[in-house]
Amino acid sequence: MRKDAALPDSVVVREVCPRDGFQNVKEFIPTERKLEWIDALFEAGVTEMEVTSFVSPKAIPQLADAAEVLTETKRRHPTARLTALVPNTKGAERALACGADVLNVVFSASESHNKANLNRSVAESLSGLDDIARLIEGRAELSVSIATSFMCPFEGRTDPRRVSELIGIVREKGARSICLAETIGTCHPRDFAETLDAVFPALDGIPVFLHIHNTFGMALLNVREALVRGFDRFDSAAGGLGGCPYAPGAAGNAATEDLVFYLNGLGIETGLDPLALVKVARWMRDYGLGTLGHLVKSRFGQPVGPCC
Ligand code: COA
Ligand code: ZN
Repeated sequence: MRKDAALPDSVVVREVCPRDGFQNVKEFIPTERKLEWIDALFEAGVTEMEVTSFVSPKAIPQLADAAEVLTETKRRHPTARLTALVPNTKGAERALACGADVLNVVFSASESHNKANLNRSVAESLSGLDDIARLIEGRAELSVSIATSFMCPFEGRTDPRRVSELIGIVREKGARSICLAETIGTCHPRDFAETLDAVFPALDGIPVFLHIHNTFGMALLNVREALVRGFDRFDSAAGGLGGCPYAPGAAGNAATEDLVFYLNGLGIETGLDPLALVKVARWMRDYGLGTLGHLVKSRFGQPVGPCC
């Protein structure tokens, strides 16, 4: 198949299952099992991964082993680009100590979600970003993830003008890349496209990851809206796992295997093997993630006949 001339030649797929996927699983997954899945994801061609988050273990007990997981992943996969999500200075200190390549500092565009998720105002998060920027001093890349950039579980649609304003602020504070998150997965592609168009001038060429949940099944349609606008970096989670514990009801991310099947079919280079990703997703399901209420939700790889 020939690639549509308007689409990017290649796309960076950042695997976020070990952070966004696992954070939503209540029963603790043994660290060694997490590391085995992380290894299998790299074998499937992953080059960039959000490995864990350095948040309060009281807030997310599942990721209490963040230091061990990141340190060991760094040792086993020294050439990969490893991101750690951090909510505050303490998280940044912990992530730097484990050799994170990218610190993804998260806050929300909407006040009520920021309060529910991080127990602070957006202004407090922004002032914390100054401290983190000073702390990093070139030891890692400063990235900023703006949650609820499209929809908020408490306030509805987020005003794109507010998102543009926040993009401008975090760029001034030294962000080298940005992640715009559709945290709850309910955004209609029309609204998604409208926000992308509205914030485009504020982005001004900075690398952007789009992080798109799939609650209403619109994730790949939203990916399409992004692709035709030249966006070429996406987060996704193997098995379609994921969800913010402070966005009740939100489903997982776009499944990496679905995203890769879609992109590869368009002739867009990803470097990832969708069948190998399906194997990891099935392994996670067979381990029990499916029976614990965190269904593995990928569509690609469903058995439909002898050829599959
Ligand atoms: N890593 C580990 N521990 C941390 C921490 C971090 N990044 N930040 C704070 N803590 C600890 C403090 O040391 C303190 O411990 P103590 O009770 O033993 O003294 C305790 O947590 C409370 O600290 P405080 O600064 O008052 O935090 P808080 O209670 O206001 O919680 C957050 C703020 C940001 C730490 C917490 O809301 C959080 O971790 N949220 C993340 C939620 C999340 O991961 N959502 C999904 C991904 S977006
Ligand atoms: Zn997410």
